Amino acid sequence: MTATLIDGKAFAAGLRAQIATQVQAMKAHRITPGLAVVLVGEDPASQVYVRSKGRMTREVGMNSYEHRLPPETSQQDLLALIDRLNADPAVNGILVQLPLPAHMDEAAVINSIDPAKDVDGFHILNAGRLATGQKAMVPCTPLGCLMLLRDHLGSLSGKNALVIGRSNIVGKPMAQLLLRDSATVTIAHSRTANLPDLCRQADILIAAVGRALFVKGDWIKPGATVIDVGINRTDDGLVGDVDFDAAKQVAGAITPVPGGVGPMTIACLLANTLTATARANG
Ligand code: GUN
Repeated sequence: MTATLIDGKAFAAGLRAQIATQVQAMKAHRITPGLAVVLVGEDPASQVYVRSKGRMTREVGMNSYEHRLPPETSQQDLLALIDRLNADPAVNGILVQLPLPAHMDEAAVINSIDPAKDVDGFHILNAGRLATGQKAMVPCTPLGCLMLLRDHLGSLSGKNALVIGRSNIVGKPMAQLLLRDSATVTIAHSRTANLPDLCRQADILIAAVGRALFVKGDWIKPGATVIDVGINRTDDGLVGDVDFDAAKQVAGAITPVPGGVGPMTIACLLANTLTATARANG
């Protein structure tokens, strides 16, 4: 048996088309959503992400404001820029690309963003709201995974979900979202004992460890839905956290890398920007 491919690229294109339609409707009311992206330093991967975020923002008809700051920028200067963006009514969403240079306090920077403009959903207030079941800005990558899961499975209620990875950006919010949809959720990480056995019990497996081909084919429960968040650069090109060729023989459905979760992240960023704009204009 070969798994169904979950086509995140096509799903994301559909989502962006819907967003573009809603942006046009807002423009008829003289409102144009605006997303500010701040990049500090010259990390090559971050530069690629920021460029494609800007391009896709413009493609759906939103305004894109890019702020590129040199690596030696002081935290005080970054906080001053964020203050200006917080106060700017043309800016509905603010994203500070991570990682920040080592001399900066990442939490202090993120928590200086107006929570209503925090389209990454990383502000402590949004994390707390998500954890307590209140209306929150939800981090884009886990939100994209949830959309793919709901589209493929319908209800997640009562399913055994295993999230491998406990980052604030993916693992923890992913677990919260699955819990909100009444899945039975386990979070695994580098110290977890018997990871292969835990995987074999998972109806839903989310791999977000950042290690190439970490999850083996014989760890997967036959028929499971596998969501691979990993994007690892290797000599053989981009690969996920899951050994795709082996896993697709066992899983019921699986996301490819590239073309799975990746395109969903930016589409969800645009969706969050639209939501923030709608809320700001009441
Ligand atoms: N760096 C890697 N992923 C992300 C993300 O989703 N948001 C931000 N701001 N930085 C990142």
